Amino acid sequence: MTQQFEVFYNWSKRELNLQLDGYKQKQLQRRITTIMTKSGASNLADYAQKIKQDTQIKQDFLDYITINVTEFYRNELMFLEFTQLLVDKIAPQFSHLKIWSAACSTGAEAYSVAMALKKNHFHTRSTIIGTDLDLTVLKKAREGKYRDVEVKNVPTDELKKYFTHDDYHYYLNQEIKDLVSFKKHDLILDRYEKDCHAIICRNVTIYFNDEVKEAIYSSVSDALVPGGLFFIGATETIYNPQKYGFKKVGSFIYEKIE
Ligand SMILES: C[S@@+](CC[C@H](N)C(=O)[O-])C[C@H]1O[C@@H](n2cnc3c(N)ncnc32)[C@H](O)[C@@H]1O
Repeated sequence: MTQQFEVFYNWSKRELNLQLDGYKQKQLQRRITTIMTKSGASNLADYAQKIKQDTQIKQDFLDYITINVTEFYRNELMFLEFTQLLVDKIAPQFSHLKIWSAACSTGAEAYSVAMALKKNHFHTRSTIIGTDLDLTVLKKAREGKYRDVEVKNVPTDELKKYFTHDDYHYYLNQEIKDLVSFKKHDLILDRYEKDCHAIICRNVTIYFNDEVKEAIYSSVSDALVPGGLFFIGATETIYNPQKYGFKKVGSFIYEKIE
């Protein structure tokens, strides 16, 4: 890493509480350079000043480095496989379910779980938590306002039942919004939840280096009860699942075995 980036990372850890050296460097540095240039800054020291002084530049920086793309029922078949396991295998074993959608972005993933549980009448005995590092996406998650591309996989009957819409957006009903609580959580820096029956953590570890990834898998394992499920993204693989006490039980789903 160049000294300029090292200084900038130390500064962002101190000022913004962001642990940027845990991310894959080539990709991240390219993104930082792009957004820095857009702001008119000519070097990282100048950019840090701008971030400090201008809340919009700060927000643009945070939004750009935390890629926020998400949608309801993302990777539909995998998602259905996960909710099927949740309903058939996990729900009958436990009187109350705690489900955590980590790095949830604007909440589509957490709300998709809520809708699946409601369909099977398990929502009344479930706690669903959505977390992300980025406060802007959490605000959007609580708002429950989505573009049509984000709801394209929602079945028509659910779209009718749980959303209202105008020409621009779909608005999630309060009934589903009430099933999920959102809060800030940094997967690298913060303590993890405990006693979860399922953790969904998709399309975020791809941005992290191997050391951080391994630490996340260990923490996720500690956060799950035995028998609990860990659902990862469609481009992710855990090469040595037994190292973390996981057994593969689905295409991108692991069960905690010990
Ligand atoms: C591509 S989105 C994935 C959203 C959702 N899980 C999905 O698969 O549709 C990645 C999310 O990870 C969040 N993120 C990035 N670094 C994080 C960290 N260190 N801790 C928690 N969330 C993080 C970003 O803010 C972003 O909302």
